[in-house]
Amino acid sequence: MSAVHVLEHPLIQHKLALIRDENTGSKDFRELVEEVAMLMAYEVTRDFPLQEVEVKTPVSIAKTKMISGRKVGLVPILRAGLGMVDGMLRLIPAAKVGHVGLYRDPETLKPVEYYCKLPSDVSERDLIVIDPMLATGGSAAAAISFLKERRVRNIKLMCLIAAPEGIKAVQESHPDVDIFVAAVDECLNDHGYIVPGLGDAGDRLFGTK
Ligand code: PRP
Ligand code: URA
Repeated sequence: MSAVHVLEHPLIQHKLALIRDENTGSKDFRELVEEVAMLMAYEVTRDFPLQEVEVKTPVSIAKTKMISGRKVGLVPILRAGLGMVDGMLRLIPAAKVGHVGLYRDPETLKPVEYYCKLPSDVSERDLIVIDPMLATGGSAAAAISFLKERRVRNIKLMCLIAAPEGIKAVQESHPDVDIFVAAVDECLNDHGYIVPGLGDAGDRLFGTK
């Protein structure tokens, strides 16, 4: 069964409270989502292996450590996942970015794919799928399935807010994928929105409502 990591760092929690606030406008919302994504990237990469290296300082040789040749890919689920990319790239600048376009059919709540463009060496990369919202879990589970069809084996999922239903769905369909979230909320409402959540992440990021 995949692990669920709830990232309780005070900076993440404080900024998430501001993100949730209905009075936070698009500009601040975008900046906060980017900042929280950066802070979460710090935790999601905690298990990256290190190797000993020698670095020549102005004084002498330091035996020190660097991340050992890890190739990372970020896969935002369009469109709201885009809001988290730049924050993560600030900490993992060498990561390649693939895009999976999915939207939820408002009637069925099932994900519909409309775009997929991944790095050519995607199967050699450790991937972090990113999306602010894990609601029914349908979008994340479908995106992870696309990646597995392309022989990607090491995948993590990172979201700001999850509903228990979404976590359960991803754990059942992809028990090998660890999940990193800033909060697990109460439930979904009749329209498949997370309660209390933050509303529609894509609309708030891009000002489309
Ligand atoms: C939102 C969100 C997730 C999905 C979560 O995207 O960004 O991708 O819903 O819901 P689920 O867990 O029930 O699948 P949406 O479909 O609204 O598209 P958008 O990002 O283009 O706004
Ligand atoms: N998508 C969103 O943007 N918000 C939710 O609460 C659920 C799905």
